[in-house]
Amino acid sequence: MANVAVIGAQWGDEGKGKVVDWLASRADLVVRFQGGHNAGHTLVVGDETFKLSLLPSGLVRGKLGIIGNGVVVDPEALLAEIDKVAAQGLRVTPDTLRLAENATLILPLHAALDRAREAARGDRRIGTTGRGIGPAYEDKVARRAIRVCDLAEPETLSDKLGELLRHHNTLLAGFGAPTFDKAELLDRLLALAPRILPFAEPVWERLDEARRAGRRILFEGAQAVMLDVDHGTYPFVTSSNTVAATAAAGSGLGPSAVGFVLGIAKAYSTRVGAGPFPTELADATGQLLGDRGHEFGTVTGRRRRCGWFDAALVRQAVKVGGIHGLALTKLDVLDGLPELTIGTGYRIGADALPHLPAAPGAQARAVPIYESMEGWSASTRGARSWAELPAQAIKYVRRIEELTEAPVTLLSTSPERDDTILVRDPFEG
Ligand code: GDP
Ligand code: IMO
Ligand code: MG
Repeated sequence: MANVAVIGAQWGDEGKGKVVDWLASRADLVVRFQGGHNAGHTLVVGDETFKLSLLPSGLVRGKLGIIGNGVVVDPEALLAEIDKVAAQGLRVTPDTLRLAENATLILPLHAALDRAREAARGDRRIGTTGRGIGPAYEDKVARRAIRVCDLAEPETLSDKLGELLRHHNTLLAGFGAPTFDKAELLDRLLALAPRILPFAEPVWERLDEARRAGRRILFEGAQAVMLDVDHGTYPFVTSSNTVAATAAAGSGLGPSAVGFVLGIAKAYSTRVGAGPFPTELADATGQLLGDRGHEFGTVTGRRRRCGWFDAALVRQAVKVGGIHGLALTKLDVLDGLPELTIGTGYRIGADALPHLPAAPGAQARAVPIYESMEGWSASTRGARSWAELPAQAIKYVRRIEELTEAPVTLLSTSPERDDTILVRDPFEG
């Protein structure tokens, strides 16, 4: 298996950026295939910290980055991010980044609608990032989206904007939100076009050539299986499929090109937005995990909810995501906890369930079945080999492998790029 797809196995923020950056040294191209600038991927390289939302993490290693057709692209956010990393010394040019010409654009009206709807939902809000991700995917499926290639055709753009605004201004007005003026929006997009279009191309052709030449492709997932629009805790999910199968459709390759699927999981659990979280800890231990793990949303700045490792949930992600191996991150955050708890399944009344049910009411009522293990007192932070890990930490990892039915392929012990233990090279299959 020449290629690798990295996906989140929980509710996001598992450390995909760190792992993709680390693996990118072994890859030739890094491809984003879904999501948008709702993602926040943090890479720590020496003294420099990169927080990337749209740019593929492989760019930091000097690898060619590709934004696939499955990504929803806010052109202003993309240009702002290119400028931000330039200030950190990372130059992104059309030689280093390619953008699918058939990717859907996120426009300012999408973010406005996202926020207006969230405000109207009140207590029932999803806790979206407010960046217009959901409304942009809705327009794509409704066949009225503006795509990257439309920026090259002012007349097409003008016609499509007319149709789009008829729909969106009606909705925005209904929510009591300000509406958008077509001429203003058209001017804004036409002004962006000369900076965006040099990145645009049919990326599927480049990927096909790369695949046939035996070059290694690393697919970088955003969000995670439990935020997948089909397989996650619906409706508290994002608006794309986050499973590895999407890597093919979201970049323009066949399913056999995806290769090894590496699921990233934290050694505990976190969640940013609203929605079910069976192993959540509302106590001092939850607080401790959040403090130690610096659990604040990269995009939202909101404190992440924290809880124990939910092996039943990750096992479910392994199955629906086609995960071949896990990268277990943030093991160091558990250092010094006297006892560790793992969720192994759920109970609803008298019924024991191996996996989280689909119905929202049942998800809310599901109570975890727990088992406990002794913790370890020595530090694992910065460990770069198994030999540096305390015996209890190894036991914890082994138990996670058994319960999730997936081997641990990689371990991460700090935010820093090289504090990583490779068990098996995913590019070797
Ligand atoms: P992503 O969205 O999956 O890329 O993850 P984020 O970057 O949003 O969040 C993960 C956070 O954990 C970042 O701040 C990383 O720097 C940090 N991180 C990644 N791996 C480790 C690790 O093994 N230990 C610790 N302590 N932090 C880590
Ligand atoms: P990375 O790639 C964590 C969550 C939001 C909200 C839900 C829907 O950094 O792991 P959206 O704006 O996508 O419509 O919000 O999904 N969410 C994430 N949570 N990490 C992310 O990305 C997320 N992207 C979206 O908090 O609950
Ligand atoms: Mg993140």
